[in-house]
Amino acid sequence: MIHLRLELPDDADAITDLTRIVLGARSTHSPAARMRAGSRSIADLCLVALDQGSNLVGTLRFWPVAVGTHPAIQLGPLAVRPERRGEGFGRALVREGLERARRAGHRVVVLIGDPGYYRTFGFLPATALGLHLPTPEDEARFQVLALEADALAGVSGIAGPRHDAIAVRA
Ligand SMILES: CC(C)(COP(=O)(O)OP(=O)(O)OC[C@H]1O[C@@H](n2cnc3c(N)ncnc32)[C@H](O)[C@@H]1OP(=O)(O)O)[C@@H](O)C(=O)NCCC(=O)NCCS
Repeated sequence: MIHLRLELPDDADAITDLTRIVLGARSTHSPAARMRAGSRSIADLCLVALDQGSNLVGTLRFWPVAVGTHPAIQLGPLAVRPERRGEGFGRALVREGLERARRAGHRVVVLIGDPGYYRTFGFLPATALGLHLPTPEDEARFQVLALEADALAGVSGIAGPRHDAIAVRA
C-alpha cells in the first residue's frame, strides 16, 4: 500500500537522509539545484510516500523557478529508497504532485532528469520548445510539461531562480 501526504516539518531529517543516500552530492550540487538556488520549496506540493508501516519511502519536492520572464515550477528531487524501487512509489508521487500543481493553477513544470522515466508523464525535451539552461551540456536531460493546453505559448528563455520567490536570508 502506498500512502501519500504533504511533507511536514518533522520529515525534514528523514528527507535529507534519503536524498543523500539516493543522490549523494547531487542533492545540493547539480544543475537542478542551481536552477532553484535560494528558493523555498512549495509547501502545498511537496509530498512524501509512506508504506504500510508508515516508513518514509519516497520524497518529491517542487520549487518556484522562471524560464526567461515566465513563471514555472521545478519538479525534483524525486527519490525512492533503493530497496523499495519498482513498487510504484515514484510514479504515485509524480502523478499526485502534478495533479496538485494543476489544481493549484501552475501551468509549466520543468525538470532535469532521465527522459526515459519522465516521458510517461508527458514531459517533452525542453530545448526543442525554446527553453534552455545556462549550461548547454545539461540540456539533454532538461524537460518540460504544460499543465494546460496553451501553457507553453510564448514561453522561452533560460531557466533559473525566480527572483520574486527567493527567500530573504539574514
Ligand atoms: C527514478 C525513481 C524515483 C523511480 O522510483 P520507483 O519507485 O522505482 O518508480 P516506479 O516504481 O514508480 O516505476 C518504476 C518504473 O520506472 C522505470 N525506471 C526507473 N528509473 C528509470 C530511469 N532512470 N529511466 C527510465 N525508466 C526508469 C523502471 O524500469 C520501472 O519500469 P516498469 O514499471 O516498466 O517496470 C527511483 O529509481 C530513484 O529514486 N532513482 C534515483 C534518483 C533519481 O534518478 N531520481 C529522479 C531524477 S530527479
